[in-house]
Amino acid sequence: MEEKFNQLDDKIEEAKLGGGQKRIDAQHKKGKLTARERLHFLLDEGSFEEIGMLVTHRSTNFGLEKTKILGDGVITGYGNINGRLVYVFSQDFTVLGGSLAEAYAEKICKVMDLAMQNGAPVIGLNDSGGARIQEGVVSLGGYADIFYRNTLASGVVPQLSAIMGPCAGGAVYYPALTDFIMMVENTSYMFVTGPNVVKTVTHEEVSSEDLGGASAHSTKSGVTHLTYANEIECINGIKTMLSYIPQNCEEDAPSVPYESVDESRKNLNTIIPDNPNQPYDIKEVIEGTIDEGSFYEIHKDFAENIVVGFARLAGKSIGIVANQPAFLAGVLDIKSSQKGARFVRFCDAFNIPLLVFEDVPGFLPGTDQEWNAIITNGAKLLYAFSEATVPRITVITRKAYGGAYDVMNSKHIGADMNFAWPSAEIAVMGAKGAAEIIFKKEISSAKNPEEKWKEKEAEYAKMFANPYNAAARGYVDEVIKPAQTREKLIKAFKMLENKVATLPKKKHGNIPL
Ligand code: HXC
Repeated sequence: MEEKFNQLDDKIEEAKLGGGQKRIDAQHKKGKLTARERLHFLLDEGSFEEIGMLVTHRSTNFGLEKTKILGDGVITGYGNINGRLVYVFSQDFTVLGGSLAEAYAEKICKVMDLAMQNGAPVIGLNDSGGARIQEGVVSLGGYADIFYRNTLASGVVPQLSAIMGPCAGGAVYYPALTDFIMMVENTSYMFVTGPNVVKTVTHEEVSSEDLGGASAHSTKSGVTHLTYANEIECINGIKTMLSYIPQNCEEDAPSVPYESVDESRKNLNTIIPDNPNQPYDIKEVIEGTIDEGSFYEIHKDFAENIVVGFARLAGKSIGIVANQPAFLAGVLDIKSSQKGARFVRFCDAFNIPLLVFEDVPGFLPGTDQEWNAIITNGAKLLYAFSEATVPRITVITRKAYGGAYDVMNSKHIGADMNFAWPSAEIAVMGAKGAAEIIFKKEISSAKNPEEKWKEKEAEYAKMFANPYNAAARGYVDEVIKPAQTREKLIKAFKMLENKVATLPKKKHGNIPL
């Protein structure tokens, strides 16, 4: 028996060495951790249980029979993060470049199936050269088996992807189908076709980093939601993210203990400038309202005219969507609509109440926006809010103009409570533009058209640049001083804690994609 035990120990040692010490050293040289080291830092000590450590591929093509490495290039299993069950896979670049094929994909599918059956998040640590070329179509089939499960798991359990090395070709669609993508700066990249193919097809010369590095995807494409300076920070980011989200769609997000104190926040009273056209930073409003230091911003460097992220209010997890007057005056455009809609749908899928801070002058005009379908994309945000059944509250801090008033979680599309600050301006459009249209004749026939315009602008502003018309109709439930915001929100979210709202029976809706 001793001999058999030793055989097992040898096999475990062999599997743990992956592609060998030389390749592990090469991985370190690139500033990257190995697949096992990543899991070590991610999971609570001693909690990791590996599944399929001794799996090998079955291919005999192109000499692969000589490179049967135990585990086949991906480490899969389950463990805990701060005591909570998670399912994980970690791609091992030291084994055939972390490339994915039949047996490898089966291992990932197995943990995804377990995650679905047991209601816990799936975390994928990606570092792979894509489909294993030697195994041909079974590699492609393996990917598709995973994509199918990603789609079935969407909205059932949270799926998080960390990109810690190459992620190329169709392989990008695994992370793309998950809820959040996190990338490590300078050592990770994602693209459908790499620089060589780009050069052949479009004659563009571009580096991997410029084409699909963390910076490109966090600022230009918005593919990645978060970026980190190194892998340890990225792993800590995963843990932080988990602290705001539940295990599955049937559960509530975790909360932290909170003791009620004086909830008034006088600092909020001085944030809105006297001049309604002067920008201010909505993040000051967010930070001033939520539990101190609890804001975890998502998509920070993409479509900065809208701010989204998780936070805690009286210890409870909430999702925040806020127009940002400090960037493009907080206007809604294609990218910000997409960013907002995606976040709203995540929060709604996972029972995270939504808080909206609204200061929006409207949708961005222009051919660029119209030809690239601001109509369809703006509708995404409208649809996402309308469909959301979680508790939803809006605070109008200043402008709520035009269609954007409707879109930004208005009561008409199902928001539960709508507060407005005295600085709120709720109207079809800004006073200047409104006066120009409705008093066109009067202005043009006046002795001094410029003066007349100003007079009419002031008249319109007096009528509508306030929250009281909306409050008179009940579109705004209460006009509050900024300092009261936190207290009002804590009470209102508490009041909505047991909200039950259902959508009409349907197979699924048809969001304008
Ligand atoms: C098999 C692969 C591989 C792959 C890398 N390797 N990618 N083996 N299939 N897809 C192997 C290499 O042969 C090498 O083996 C080892 O992994 C390390 O690779 P290197 O090239 O030495 O490393 P590096 O210089 O860091 O470059 C990494 C890389 C490069 C950029 C990822 O290997 C690369 O371009 N690979 C191919 C990427 C690709 O085109 N993938 C297919 C995408 S299409 P040895 O033994 O020499 O050390 C796709 C379709 C999916 O994924 C469809 C789903 C819908």
